[in-house]
Amino acid sequence: MLFRQLFDAESNTYTYLIADPNTKEAMIVDPVLEQVERDLKLLQELGLTLRYCLETHIHADHITGSDKLRAATNCLSIVPDSSHVSCANRYVKDGEILQLGEVFIKAIATPGHTDSHYAYLLNNDRVLTGDALFIRGCGRTDFQSGNAGTLYDSVTQRLFTLPDETLVYPGHDYRGYTVSTIGEEKHWNPRFVGRSRENFIELMSALNLPNPKKMMEAVPANEHCGNVIQVT
Ligand SMILES: [Fe+2]
Repeated sequence: MLFRQLFDAESNTYTYLIADPNTKEAMIVDPVLEQVERDLKLLQELGLTLRYCLETHIHADHITGSDKLRAATNCLSIVPDSSHVSCANRYVKDGEILQLGEVFIKAIATPGHTDSHYAYLLNNDRVLTGDALFIRGCGRTDFQSGNAGTLYDSVTQRLFTLPDETLVYPGHDYRGYTVSTIGEEKHWNPRFVGRSRENFIELMSALNLPNPKKMMEAVPANEHCGNVIQVT
């Protein structure tokens, strides 16, 4: 499997490029609008054909590059089944498996950060955790129908039950981490280690984080696959 972790420094977002090296079919997970030229250049340099643009969830901190990539490559835009997006070509369901040549992508419903969030398990050895689980952290739960108790259940029952050696690739990082493992996070993630569900809910409700800078434009744009609506 060809696997590349790409970074947008403005929003601290990781975008992932995954491809089958034989069939040259590719998918991009969580593309960022401002990085579409970079992604198209890389696809071209590696001789890849983009089949899917996949979202872990509807983001509040950046605008997706999905619509622009679709216009340039004719790829399919795929989003979680319960998200309020009308422009997608396809909606993933829990347990559904997408295939790219020899690469198998299993969708795992992991709501809590938002009510329609998915993690994607790749070839059973690495998981893209989106904003459900970060390295030594997790996504916030205070807007977009977020729910701390639901996130606790998603992480402890759906992600922490994967084999310990499963590699963890998050949707964001703010401290320079790139990859972890399920075993490592079960042992060292301060949001979860030694915390009951009630205790986690308390912790999350006391975070008092400011809203993301781009929230007011990002959420409506992402509900249109990243097609920015001009407000005059
Ligand atoms: Fe998010």
